[in-house]
Amino acid sequence: MFDLIIRDATLPDGRTGIDIAVSGGTIAAIEPGIAAEAGEEISATGRLVSPPFIDPHFHMDATLSLGIPRMNVSGTLLEGIALWGELRPIATKEEMVERALRYCDLAVTQGLLFIRSHVDTSDPRLVTAEALLEVQERVKPYIDLQLVAFPQDGYYRAKDGVASLNRALDMGVGIVGGIPHFERTMEDGKASVEALCRIAADRGLPVDIHCDETDDPLSRHIETLAAETIRFGLEGRVAGSHLTSMHSMDNYYVSKLIPLMAEARINVISNPLINIMLQGRHDTYPKRRGLTRVRELMEAGLNVCFGHDCVMDPWYSMGSGDMLEVAHMAVHVAQMAGIEDKRKIFDAVTVNSAKTLGLEGYGLEKGCKADFVILQAADPIEALRLKPTRLAVIKAGKVISRTAPKIGELFLDGRPASVDPGRDHVPKT
Ligand code: FE2
Repeated sequence: MFDLIIRDATLPDGRTGIDIAVSGGTIAAIEPGIAAEAGEEISATGRLVSPPFIDPHFHMDATLSLGIPRMNVSGTLLEGIALWGELRPIATKEEMVERALRYCDLAVTQGLLFIRSHVDTSDPRLVTAEALLEVQERVKPYIDLQLVAFPQDGYYRAKDGVASLNRALDMGVGIVGGIPHFERTMEDGKASVEALCRIAADRGLPVDIHCDETDDPLSRHIETLAAETIRFGLEGRVAGSHLTSMHSMDNYYVSKLIPLMAEARINVISNPLINIMLQGRHDTYPKRRGLTRVRELMEAGLNVCFGHDCVMDPWYSMGSGDMLEVAHMAVHVAQMAGIEDKRKIFDAVTVNSAKTLGLEGYGLEKGCKADFVILQAADPIEALRLKPTRLAVIKAGKVISRTAPKIGELFLDGRPASVDPGRDHVPKT
């Protein structure tokens, strides 16, 4: 007798007709035709059952603040940073917690159950850290929230930047962040990466740096980050976020850089929605895309994942908390449209991100945590195309969100779902 059995699932790796039995919050069996009973049964009716989506790069302190105190008129990264500088001093802990919790509710309905959020440590009052540490605790039953101490205004450039970041870590923020390309000089940026890696080594923490988020082909902070990672023995524990300058770098230099990154086992976090929106703004035509070299990095064996970065905040007025929207943009901007390409893109918002976040027990195997999502799609390829309804979201073996199916979408067989009632109903319970 199991707590829950999901019947007739298609898994992301292509297995079909699979039953998933849950006991005590973990997957007790995952195979075709489990002959047993359960407290609750749900038929997936042949649809895709995926492990939960993961967002490895987000800014929860700024989310859903669109229009406060004003809109970003130019829509540029630099005006976004300036606007956040206007909002930050007037934001209270209470309203920040309220916005973040509202976002987490949205995330759950999207099957997004793991989020790594940066926490701006530039304001020494650290209202941001207080708020998000409270949110981290409150959402624990349904969302695993990791926090990065992030010196938005520069570790060295901001007044009290060094002390504030260290104080946020003392408060319990668990990952060391940075923004070397925003320091006053390239030398300051390099020094900040060295200092931040040293802090991480001393404290035994992971590192996640906003790195080279520029169109400058000569920005070199990822090289420093990889070298310092090796010097401090932090291999596998360091993430380079954005890396947009790699788009514009000289090809010969990149042929030397990527093997260095692989040696350091850097986790690459690209943010396709934000990068395509904010990069290349100084270009006329031709206009650069500004996304890092996703295909080349994957082919070199690096772990590449995708983040949402922003939803309705000073930098980005759009977004929906849907990692399939992020992945959909990645397919286009990275021009990864082949069948195997798309499978790799789906991995980049699930298993690759799990590796970056160091998650244990993630996945659809016996013994893994019973966290998964039933989608109104046949397989990962269709999920990328449709960004479909998350029919049921399951956490630790319990259904925490249900959404009615959409009618009228074109499924892979070319027929509208509404004329195929066998595939178009809320999962049976
Ligand atoms: Fe970011």
